[in-house]
Amino acid sequence: MKSDVQETFARIYKRYDLANTILSGGRDATWRKNAVSLLNQTSRIKNPASSLYLDLCTGTGRLAYETSKRFGSQVVGLDFSEEMLRWGARNNSRISNIEYRISNVLSDAQILPFGDNNFEGVTIGFGIRNIPDVQRALLEMYRVVKPGGRAIILEFSRPESFLIKPFYHFYLRNLLPWIGGFIAGEKAPYDYLARTIWDFPIYEEFLHLMKEVGWSEVKYSPLTFGIVTVYSGRK
Ligand SMILES: C[S@@+](CC[C@H](N)C(=O)[O-])C[C@H]1O[C@@H](n2cnc3c(N)ncnc32)[C@H](O)[C@@H]1O
Repeated sequence: MKSDVQETFARIYKRYDLANTILSGGRDATWRKNAVSLLNQTSRIKNPASSLYLDLCTGTGRLAYETSKRFGSQVVGLDFSEEMLRWGARNNSRISNIEYRISNVLSDAQILPFGDNNFEGVTIGFGIRNIPDVQRALLEMYRVVKPGGRAIILEFSRPESFLIKPFYHFYLRNLLPWIGGFIAGEKAPYDYLARTIWDFPIYEEFLHLMKEVGWSEVKYSPLTFGIVTVYSGRK
C-alpha cells in the first residue's frame, strides 16, 4: 500500500519541477549547485569520475544529475515514487545530450538496499523533511557512506531576519499553497509543504540529529536569507 507521501507525488509528478522553479523564483537550480559543490570540498576524492555517489529522495533526479555533471561520476538515485523516477528518467534524457551516469533504485530511504561503506558521498534534496524517521535515514546514510565521505542535505529552513520573517511567514501560509496548487493542479501538497517547513528542525537542532547518529564536522550554510539551508557532515 502507498503512503500519503507516495500518493501525493504520484499525482503531482508531471508538474513538480515546474512548480519548484516558479515557487523558488528560479533559485532551486542554484541551491542544488551550491549543495553539490560541498560534496568533495576537501578534494579527498582524487578521481571523482570513477566514484559512486548516492542521491536519496531523488525524485526527478535534479540533484543526482547535478552531481553527475559536476564530477562526471556515477550516481545512484533512490526514491520510493515510481512515477517521479520514471518521469525524471524520461525528461532528463530529453533535455540534454550529455551522457549522465545515473541509475535509479525504487526503495525507502529509511532502509537502504546497499552494503556498508559503499558510496563516496550521499546527498538528499528537499527529501528529509518528508521522512517519518529522520534519524533512521541519517543513520542509514552514515552506514552506506565510506569513512571520510560526506553527507550533503539540502532542505527548507526559515529566515531569521526580523525584516524578512513576517513576509516569508505570510508567503508560506497564504501564497505558496495557492500558487503551488494552481501550477500542480492540487493545493493540499503545498499546504503540507508550508506546514512542514514551519515545523521541521533547523540549523543547530538539525546538526544535533546528525551528530547523534555519528556524523562529524557538521556544518550548515543558509542560502537565500535562510529560505533553504545546506547541512554537511563527514563520516
Ligand atoms: C520534494 S521531492 C524532492 C526531489 C528532488 N530531490 C529535488 O531536489 O527536487 C521529495 C521526494 O522524496 C521522495 N520520498 C519521500 N519520502 C521518501 C522515503 N521515505 N523514501 C524514499 N523516497 C522518499 C518523494 O517520493 C519525492 O520524490
